[in-house]
Amino acid sequence: MRIEHNYSLLKHNTFGIDAKCQRFVEYESVEEAQELVRSLTEDDYPLLILGGGSNLLLTGDYKGTVVHSGISFIERLDDERVRCGSAYVWDDFVDYCVLHQLYGAENLSIIPGECGASAVQNIGAYGAEAKDLIDEVEAVEISTGEVHHFKNADCAYSYRQSKFKHEWRDKYLITSVTYRLSKTYHPKLDYGNIRAALAERGIENPTAIELRQTITDIRNAKLPDPKEIGNAGSFFMNPIVPKAKYEELAALYERMPHYTIDAEHEKIPAGWMIEQCGWKGKALGPAGVYAKQALVLVNLGGASGADVVRLCQTIQHDVKEKFGVEILPEVNVR
Ligand code: EPU
Repeated sequence: MRIEHNYSLLKHNTFGIDAKCQRFVEYESVEEAQELVRSLTEDDYPLLILGGGSNLLLTGDYKGTVVHSGISFIERLDDERVRCGSAYVWDDFVDYCVLHQLYGAENLSIIPGECGASAVQNIGAYGAEAKDLIDEVEAVEISTGEVHHFKNADCAYSYRQSKFKHEWRDKYLITSVTYRLSKTYHPKLDYGNIRAALAERGIENPTAIELRQTITDIRNAKLPDPKEIGNAGSFFMNPIVPKAKYEELAALYERMPHYTIDAEHEKIPAGWMIEQCGWKGKALGPAGVYAKQALVLVNLGGASGADVVRLCQTIQHDVKEKFGVEILPEVNVR
């Protein structure tokens, strides 16, 4: 088990916030995770369970223990199932699937982060979500050290939500995730500009490798590389609003994009609303709104967590005022 004290988290958050934690602990196996939780004393709390740090905003030094999984393996269980350690890099899992003719993950290409977080956050992009693939989540209960195996249905998945973000928040250390892929390829091409991007390459029926490459290129063109500009991907969730609210707005804004959730709800892209408020490409001090995708807040250099929070709150206020809709961060603000 790796243990550090007064440890800088700069390398552990893609926002590039230079904050420290009192203690940093990394477990390398289920047994070490059990040993760790059984050894925790009151002085070790609060705990921050960290994945790749690609969905995190640190608002200051963390006065507690940061816990990170070091369990990184991939194994094929059978024809359709693949199990990954919680620290296995998500995109390496997607790559493994595509190379082994296991389908369903292609649209989730190059999402930053680790497999453990995919099960917490229900990561999603281009019409696919991790919940469509997750079969089982193995986790160690922090209060008892017991190992649990949660089935997909136990985790209450929905858009960017799971029990791990709510009633199970900070209660489990995820050790591995089992995914169920498909042996047959059913490409999902209808979301956003996928077909247009394929057409530009003269491709009508892409192979999984071509689809993965196209999604990778679309994302790279729109989203900043954290190695160059600190960011945590989409900063806000797209709000899901009642149909009546959507209709009221659609009457005012004819070109408002939207996705139908069910008979009563519509999802409105927060990026579009933020752009309408004039924030795209603008900054407040060292924190800014990315010029190519308004849903992404960026660290223009040396921003503190407080700078980003100030920008976040100002944007939330402006969106509420203009559209009467509340937008909530999708990043974990700690
Ligand atoms: N839009 C604007 N202006 C902007 C950004 C978006 O008008 O600055 C409009 C677009 O033109 C489009 C709509 O909003 O009509 C949706 O935009 P886009 O397809 O780029 O996706 P998004 O809703 O902004 C979500 C995910 C992304 C994911 C993309 C593609 C959330 C919070 N974000 O963004 O996920 O890559 O769809 O599926 O659901 C992430 O979570 O970090 C992330 C990048």
